[in-house]
Amino acid sequence: MGRLSEKVAIISGGAQGQGAAEARLFAAEGAKVIFGDILDAEGEAVASDIRESGGDATYIPLDVTQEADWRGAVEMATTRFGRLDILINNAAVLIPRVSIEDRTGEEWDRVMGVNAKGVFLGTKHAIPAMRAAGGGSIVNISSIAGIGQSAHQEPAYAASKGAIRIFTKVTAAQHAQDNIRCNSVHPGPVDTEMFRAAFAEPEALANRLARVPMRRAGTIDEVVAGVLYLASDESSYVTGTELVIDGGALSM
Ligand SMILES: NC(=O)c1ccc[n+]([C@@H]2O[C@H](COP(=O)([O-])OP(=O)(O)OC[C@H]3O[C@@H](n4cnc5c(N)ncnc54)[C@H](O)[C@@H]3O)[C@@H](O)[C@H]2O)c1
Repeated sequence: MGRLSEKVAIISGGAQGQGAAEARLFAAEGAKVIFGDILDAEGEAVASDIRESGGDATYIPLDVTQEADWRGAVEMATTRFGRLDILINNAAVLIPRVSIEDRTGEEWDRVMGVNAKGVFLGTKHAIPAMRAAGGGSIVNISSIAGIGQSAHQEPAYAASKGAIRIFTKVTAAQHAQDNIRCNSVHPGPVDTEMFRAAFAEPEALANRLARVPMRRAGTIDEVVAGVLYLASDESSYVTGTELVIDGGALSM
């Protein structure tokens, strides 16, 4: 029996990177997976792959800033499978770092819209479906940027990830009685498209890794293992907490 047998999961930002790996792993562990993104061709390709391997996965266009998209995703889970057990709020954007005085209001709103409001909207629409199912697990992908190493962070991204951190605790405290758990995951550098785009220059990459005691980026598998634990019933007494997966970066 898989670790997510009979569970129904929604994952945002699942067309590539960690979200796609979560869709693959969750389906392999027996979950019925609905995952969304704004990269439709990539998302459809991931879904076909999963189905060819015998998993149950459906890709849907899901812009996390659009409430109607979230409503549709949750409705698909409840009409097709009769329940929703797991939500992984994974989608995010990272923009190149500039000083606070050079950051525009429009850029700030875009980052906060995807990274913070997107998590709020997904959570808002998942809660009634999870309550009806007798409970659930919400995992919000934040970052170590939401906790520290602040001298090096892009301001809007760090603020959005900090917002996710505390929103996670509010959700956990206010919905424990619904048997809904909510936890945040805080990766350090992880070898994905987002990371490679941000640290394309060898010098920038070397400087970034110098701030990680293990002196390397994490692999996608090292992060999604933690996400799986929090999504599954193995973490049944864990809520409102922060799982840092960062090669020791926050210890520096
Ligand atoms: N890679 C890292 O170093 C790192 C470190 C810390 C935290 N994280 C976090 O991990 C999560 C996954 O990131 P990743 O590294 O896999 O990056 P990624 O860029 O490969 O994946 C992010 C996904 O989110 C999608 N997305 C962007 N805007 C969207 C929107 N409006 N609606 C729906 N989907 C949207 C993208 O299309 C992409 O598929 C993010 O929350 C990110 O902030 C990543």
